[in-house]
Amino acid sequence: MSKPRILVTRRWPSAVESILSDRFDTTLNTDDLSMTGEALSAALGEYDAVLPTVSDRLPAAVFDGVMPRVRMLGNFGVGYNHIDIDAAKARGIVVTNTPGVLTDCTADIAMLLLLTVARRGGEGERQVRAGEWQGWCPTHMIGTKVTGKTVGIIGFGRIGKAFAQRCHFGFGMDVVFYNRSPVDPAEAARYGARQLPAVEDVLASSDFVSLHCPGGAENRHLMNAERLATMRPGAFLINTARGDVVDELALIAALKDGVIRGAGLDVYGAEPHVPDALRAMENVVLLPHLGSATEETRTAMGMKVVDNVTAFFDGRPPPDRVV
Ligand code: DGY
Repeated sequence: MSKPRILVTRRWPSAVESILSDRFDTTLNTDDLSMTGEALSAALGEYDAVLPTVSDRLPAAVFDGVMPRVRMLGNFGVGYNHIDIDAAKARGIVVTNTPGVLTDCTADIAMLLLLTVARRGGEGERQVRAGEWQGWCPTHMIGTKVTGKTVGIIGFGRIGKAFAQRCHFGFGMDVVFYNRSPVDPAEAARYGARQLPAVEDVLASSDFVSLHCPGGAENRHLMNAERLATMRPGAFLINTARGDVVDELALIAALKDGVIRGAGLDVYGAEPHVPDALRAMENVVLLPHLGSATEETRTAMGMKVVDNVTAFFDGRPPPDRVV
């Protein structure tokens, strides 16, 4: 029997690419160039499985007018708001993701952003590199103390919990959170956290707000102008979730007008585009979507996809099926 034809849309860790190549009739993207919508559409008609990732856009239009050969999309990544899930479902295409393996590294990046923006690490580094540092003095580049402050978490899933644990047990922070469904207080206490009833309650009581909810329609612009105005005037916003959770224009206005004090961002509304206004601000720390970018995690993500695709073509339920 011939092996299933699969397409990997970007370069993956080499150990994972070689397992895929052994098990399947695999096409790799050796140039690592982002695929266009047309190329993705064509791939849906030519392969048994396509393995996309965050940088691929698969809206309904990509599925329209295609006679799909594809039976499975094995997404490399936990977030899948770049795939129109309803369009996939309507065509009987199974979609899987990679939960669990990027929890710690993403929580670490949120912590890095929180510390960097509070302590002005980005500004300091730029100053030293530019040869502009004039030496130590009592008023130089004064930041905000982190220890003992209140952090508010929006979305108390795996990553929200791992971030809470770091904040509370690592930095003695008081942790409050909003989550759509109630969390057992004993479970929340394991992470040093307590649940508040509404997003606004969390925003109004926090010195730092960190977003850990999924992107997509349900949370689009959850942080809009009104909610940003509910934050404390000296507060900071951290986003390692998805760019579409924040209304970027409203955020820029809030930062310009001093509605909030700063922001640490790893994700953006139209990646890799980052608005000039954000790039020009000193009170903003900007990372290029590095949440899961460690050797260990990227390999583990790839191995999760291998497990999902292998199970699917062996006729077993893929462990991380989202639809
Ligand atoms: C994901 O898996 O959704 C991440 O954003 C990639 O780091």
